[in-house]
Amino acid sequence: MENIENNIIFTRRSIRSFIKEKKVENEKVELILKAAMQAPSACNKQPWEFLVLDDANIIESIAPIDKHYALSVKAPLVIIAMGNEKTSYKGDNGMPWFPLDVSAAVQNMLLEAASLGLGSVWIGTYPDEKRIKGLQNHFNIPEHIIPFAVIAIGYSEDSNKFVDRFVKEKVHYNKY
Ligand SMILES: Cc1cc2nc3c(=O)[nH]c(=O)nc-3n(C[C@H](O)[C@H](O)[C@H](O)COP(=O)(O)O)c2cc1C
Repeated sequence: MENIENNIIFTRRSIRSFIKEKKVENEKVELILKAAMQAPSACNKQPWEFLVLDDANIIESIAPIDKHYALSVKAPLVIIAMGNEKTSYKGDNGMPWFPLDVSAAVQNMLLEAASLGLGSVWIGTYPDEKRIKGLQNHFNIPEHIIPFAVIAIGYSEDSNKFVDRFVKEKVHYNKY
């Protein structure tokens, strides 16, 4: 049996303090973006786009949009994962499925960051109307491109570590 304490899926944690002056190497940024686009998506539509912020002034400029974004100012790298409502798969009731696809992409990014020795945290955006509109207005993002998650990334003194969250009562075998 694998030792799960050595597996990034089990050890990844939200990291909220960063060594701001230590830049994330371009190769690592690219790997995080590649990991994002490796995610599964409904009908393989891949309805995602990414806004990479690596300029401290631009990162700081998002803080006034919402109090939750203050955390991102501490990071040297912020990636805003976005969903494309036009290219997204739509279910029979017309609802776009991009939130599921972009969630999978974001999780891949967090895991890739952890595997590269970085800390990261998902800062909620979708489905909060104020945060979505705030980012769209701030960056002139077209209306059909929906800011979905703000991800703060960087080197940290804090480390990823295993926390056991398995709750056997949440699992149902063969009948509910
Ligand atoms: C949709 C979503 C929104 C989140 N928003 C925030 C946030 O605004 N600020 C924050 O510090 N953490 C945020 N988190 C991180 C969670 O707080 C964190 O994942 C949770 O406490 C579990 O801890 P872990 O990531 O270390 O396992 C968010 C996570 C998700 C999935």
